[in-house]
Amino acid sequence: MTRIVDLPTPALIVDRQKFDANVATMAAVRPGLTLRPHVKAHKSTALAAQLAAVGHTAFTCATPREIIGMVQAGLGSDLLLANETVDAQRLRAMAALQGAARVTVAIDSETTATLAAECGIKDVLIDVNVGLPRCGVAPERAAALASFAVSLGLNVRGVMGYEGHLMAVADRDEQRNKVRAAMELLVQCFDDVRGQCGDDCTIISAGGTGTFNLYDPSDPVLARVNEVQAGSYALMDSHYGALDLPFEQALYVVGTVISASDGWAVIDVGLKSLGMDHGNPTIDGASVWFCSDEHITFSMKDGRPLPSIGNRVIVQPAHVDPTIALHEVIHVVDQIPMIGVLSSGTDTSETVAGGKVIDVWPVNLRHW
Ligand SMILES: Cc1ncc(COP(=O)(O)O)c(C=O)c1O
Repeated sequence: MTRIVDLPTPALIVDRQKFDANVATMAAVRPGLTLRPHVKAHKSTALAAQLAAVGHTAFTCATPREIIGMVQAGLGSDLLLANETVDAQRLRAMAALQGAARVTVAIDSETTATLAAECGIKDVLIDVNVGLPRCGVAPERAAALASFAVSLGLNVRGVMGYEGHLMAVADRDEQRNKVRAAMELLVQCFDDVRGQCGDDCTIISAGGTGTFNLYDPSDPVLARVNEVQAGSYALMDSHYGALDLPFEQALYVVGTVISASDGWAVIDVGLKSLGMDHGNPTIDGASVWFCSDEHITFSMKDGRPLPSIGNRVIVQPAHVDPTIALHEVIHVVDQIPMIGVLSSGTDTSETVAGGKVIDVWPVNLRHW
């Protein structure tokens, strides 16, 4: 039996109980196909299979590699590349999967539409800019793009509009109002696009972990968003944890204390095992001073004793997606017994051993 303290570090661990609770909480609000979970959050077909098992069998992907890997894992019944690509080789590789799988590609320009058609892609979604300055056609040009796509023989399945700039608005009323305004644009685009397309044009796809429960079924606009693309919810991070969301932190990175001296300690977890774009990671009971390539330097709060060399320390990442993408596997633990500093790294007695590793999910969709 492998336990947390037996893992070579840095190591990613997931608390199975918290993961299951997060999955159940989401499935109660967005059951089955009303959620199109985003694979980019974890890049693991083993984890995606857990979501398919509770009924979420349509997935969102960010890269062609994620699409191809999902199909190879038998999870290709309805995959959306919610991202633009102009790579003809990868478009052709995705097109070759059609028949065995359903692959829909986001387009936001005549160029991306033309390339998709030339490379043999059949299904597309019009990606609309609803306020995040990233990909997405301007709302007033969505219908013309749909009509252009249809003229190329593409099947337009609907629209998507990712309101990523609104995920972390802390005031819920303000967030609700802003999301509603963004979705009003998207729904209007859908109605415009629908006029250009066939009966298969049904999808209005949006949202993420920060907005998953704002698509109020009694609101005439919000109720029309028929799928939500959340991904982080299953594992969480400290960035989303700071918001008032009903999901628990399930993913951590375990490190080992490699040095401890005059008031601070150092573990072997650093920039190369943590996504840092949302800031420093958190260690319960400690103040993180700084991260360098392979180190976190920290001190203990409230007079707590410094850990000893060899102790294991459980670190909460600030951003789940880029953290996981740096690791090869996720170790699934029955339950993480405590967060922060575990008593000992070398003592393997039950009292300090932490949770048992009960499964390993490869992060097999990493890279491009
Ligand atoms: C296109 C798209 N949809 C949905 C999401 C939502 O993901 P999360 O669950 O992290 O909010 C993202 C995140 O960046 C995204 O890029």
